[in-house]
Amino acid sequence: MLPAPTQLGPRVRLACPRPRDQREVIALNRASRSFYRGWVSPPAAPDQFARMLARARRSDLAVLLIRRLDDDTILGGIEISQIVRGAFQSAYLGYQIGAPWARQGYMTEALGLALAYGFRTLGLHRLEANIQPANAPSIALVRQLGFAREGYSRRYLKIGGRWRDHERWAILAEAWRDRRAGNRRRSARTLPNAR
Ligand SMILES: CC(C)(COP(=O)(O)OP(=O)(O)OC[C@H]1O[C@@H](n2cnc3c(N)ncnc32)[C@H](O)[C@@H]1OP(=O)(O)O)[C@@H](O)C(=O)NCCC(=O)NCCS
Repeated sequence: MLPAPTQLGPRVRLACPRPRDQREVIALNRASRSFYRGWVSPPAAPDQFARMLARARRSDLAVLLIRRLDDDTILGGIEISQIVRGAFQSAYLGYQIGAPWARQGYMTEALGLALAYGFRTLGLHRLEANIQPANAPSIALVRQLGFAREGYSRRYLKIGGRWRDHERWAILAEAWRDRRAGNRRRSARTLPNAR
């Protein structure tokens, strides 16, 4: 089992799933089914939720819920999967925000926290997201978080019964740290009375 995430954003935090989250996670994912269709299929039934909880106990995978700070509502989820150690220190990202919470900047914040968790807490060096070319929101999301497009994989993943092409997007620990240092310098310059 991996260390629990402690990262907090202005509006959300990441949390490990607990058995008592079953009802809320399933309700959110059922309500979001058509929004997710063709992209992701997070647990929408008790047996799928139980399998997710079992996966959450592994050390090569982090299962994270996105919870709103105000009221603890579950907004979505992120998985950091296939964590490979040794000389690689790399993993893959999967994520979804529930339909009622889309386009409000929640995933930008939550994925930013997941990068901090992956690079700082888990000590990873590379995080990759594989995204279908037509998934404009997901591509906009990783682009603005500083990922670089590294390649294109034909018929890469079977989703909804069809092999689908994916773009390979990745961010490295050093690029993530440089961006954070740059952001801190910029906000220090723009803070009123910063001098
Ligand atoms: C991709 C996804 C996680 C984005 O979550 P979100 O909380 O809506 O994203 P944010 O509000 O933080 O916005 C992130 C960026 O995506 C853009 N975006 C969000 N929804 C969009 C849409 N429907 N069309 C175009 N751009 C969109 C935002 O404008 C923003 O980019 P910008 O800062 O350059 O403007 C969400 O759409 C989702 O869960 N989709 C279904 C599952 C999925 O596709 N998962 C990823 C598989 S690779």
